Amino acid sequence: MRIDHVAIAVNNLEEAVKEYQDALGVKEVEFESVETEGVRVAILHLDNSRIELMEATRANSPIKKFLESRGEGLHHIALETEKIDGEVERMKDRGVRFLGDVRPGSRGTKITFIHPKSLHGVLAELCSHP
Ligand code: CO
Repeated sequence: MRIDHVAIAVNNLEEAVKEYQDALGVKEVEFESVETEGVRVAILHLDNSRIELMEATRANSPIKKFLESRGEGLHHIALETEKIDGEVERMKDRGVRFLGDVRPGSRGTKITFIHPKSLHGVLAELCSHP
């Protein structure tokens, strides 16, 4: 596995992007909306990984709920694996809990989320690229 990205929940995407770009010296940013998850994402490309800043696009977005209860900050880490279905099966055998089934993410990826209770308080996305 490798760390694919680190996702951070923010209140105002435009403001956050400017501050992150400025602080980290990152020039290129891509924007993307994932309507099924109710988020708009700004992707900052680093040498070996990405930082994704996320804002909620609707009131019932999971990110909105997160921001209301926890405030801005680290939302999840994403771990990339080549064979997501096999990996999920292996983990389930070991008692790892998941939030939902494997489903389509953005750009042809397949994703699911590992419950934070299984990783000592960290929400982790498991993803595989096509
Ligand atoms: Co993610």
